[in-house]
Amino acid sequence: MDVDLRIKRFDPEKDDKPHWEEYRVTVDEGDRVLDALHQVRWFQDGSLAFRRSCAHGVCGSDAMVINGANRLACVLLVRDVGARITVEPLRGLPVLKDLVVDMDAFFAQYRAVQPWLHNDTDAGATERLQSPEQRARFDDTTKCILCAACTTSCPIYWANDTYVGPAAIVNAHRFIFDSRDTAGDQRMEILDAQSGVWKCRTAFNCTDACPRGIKVTEAIQDVKRAIIR
Ligand code: SF4
Ligand code: FES
Repeated sequence: MDVDLRIKRFDPEKDDKPHWEEYRVTVDEGDRVLDALHQVRWFQDGSLAFRRSCAHGVCGSDAMVINGANRLACVLLVRDVGARITVEPLRGLPVLKDLVVDMDAFFAQYRAVQPWLHNDTDAGATERLQSPEQRARFDDTTKCILCAACTTSCPIYWANDTYVGPAAIVNAHRFIFDSRDTAGDQRMEILDAQSGVWKCRTAFNCTDACPRGIKVTEAIQDVKRAIIR
């Protein structure tokens, strides 16, 4: 099938501001939007910049705005989008070139919640054990691939980039509710600050955007309730 791609382009070395460019490509209905972007880059305009690595929904590097919604280009099938596809860079992060955004602030916010296991106690001769119920408490938030689709779909984040954003809270949740971790209070103190969970207005954009199906808004509410308790 023929697909008309409308892509927001910006080259900081040539352009004062972003502009749209259109391309017609031929793809199979079962191809992904990523395949259509490859058709452009490989056969029509090699200067088109976008990120992708795994091409299978695992690395999280090709989140972009497709027909108005944050999606992974390597997961979304052309037949589910239609023959006219608009593609823009993620909102709320500076555009470096075309569909490539600067992720530095996003990863700094992720690191701010200390997304690693804290436990200085002696684990003894065995590993630290956990019951299936204890593991289930944070199972959903282990699925995050740090694609930033949630954070960059959040209207609060667009207006206030000091907000840590949904992805950082999801990754804090993953450790706050891990029975083996000892720094939950520390993380909740970080998220109780002005840039933390209370900025969330439960718009649910984040949950809709997550390609891993994580209940992002629910995880944020979980953390809010834990802080109140
Ligand atoms: S929670 Fe979902 S949308 Fe947000 S960064 Fe993780 S995988 Fe991406
Ligand atoms: S390229 Fe890795 S998630 Fe799409």
